Amino acid sequence: MTVNEARGPAIHVQGLEKSYKELRVLRGVDFAVARGSIFALLGSNGSGKTTVVKILSTLLKADAGTAGVNGFDVVTRAADVRESISLTGQFAAVDEILSGRENLVLVARLRHLKDPGAIADGLLERFSLTDAGARRVSTYSGGMRRRLDIAMSLIGDPPVIFLDEPTTGLDPQARLEVWQAVKELAGRGTTVLLTTQYLDEAEQLADRIAILHEGRIIVNGTLAELKQLLPPAKVEYVEKQPTLEDVFLTLVGDNGKTGKTGKTGKTGKTGRHGQDRNVGTDA
Ligand SMILES: Nc1ncnc2c1ncn2[C@@H]1O[C@H](COP(=O)(O)OP(=O)(O)OP(=O)(O)O)[C@@H](O)[C@H]1O
Ligand SMILES: [Mg+2]
Repeated sequence: MTVNEARGPAIHVQGLEKSYKELRVLRGVDFAVARGSIFALLGSNGSGKTTVVKILSTLLKADAGTAGVNGFDVVTRAADVRESISLTGQFAAVDEILSGRENLVLVARLRHLKDPGAIADGLLERFSLTDAGARRVSTYSGGMRRRLDIAMSLIGDPPVIFLDEPTTGLDPQARLEVWQAVKELAGRGTTVLLTTQYLDEAEQLADRIAILHEGRIIVNGTLAELKQLLPPAKVEYVEKQPTLEDVFLTLVGDNGKTGKTGKTGKTGKTGRHGQDRNVGTDA
């Protein structure tokens, strides 16, 4: 590996394919994530988001294509990739019987870091868990658990972190807290790839947003670029900018779900299924 490659994008994915038996989940996925940025992978249930995250974190082998993380190929340099990342899975991986602080100390010990106690206290403070630190995790709310889970994934300062649906099931306040934590991470130079089904989460957090649909990335761009894909909708006298939700539903097809949130309902959308769009320049 040359120095140049090491300075390239934090995450690089090309032509990724993955099937589970007959089910072709990924059919040629391409994207890149710039260092220190937040990249949101959006997609409906079952679109393959977790599959992408598992391949990038070396838990799963792709059938075809290449993927690199922090300059290391996920197949040939899997150990280096694992050293470069942390993964916060879709389901919280904290130990219920231990206290929050004990969970953090445990991970710091496993990573052979000096002064696990100080690391734990620093993270408890950063994630507003100091008061709850001594309590068993089984008494934590969903939001506290999530924050602890993210705090655990930061031990050892990995340059790249994967957050698979970090706020699913959280109430609005807890979501805001997690968002704050994620923004702070990126502010410190960590690269964040998050998957989400919440369009407002992507709007709030991501520098770039990619939509995974039917095995491919059908759009990839900044929020502003994605919004430009739809002309502003004329609603009577008011000119309204399309929301990310409009863009998403138009591109993905709403499968009869329009009206679920009451935010859409405009007519005359053109189907753009299956079209590859990469807006703007690649990071
Ligand atoms: N180990 C497996 N064996 C068989 N099928 C699988 C396996 N893992 C995932 N799948 C299927 O592959 C598809 C993609 O799954 P994946 O978990 O990647 O989707 P996702 O986008 O993360 O969905 P969600 O939003 O529900 O988390 C789904 O249809 C799922 O049922
Ligand atoms: Mg998933």
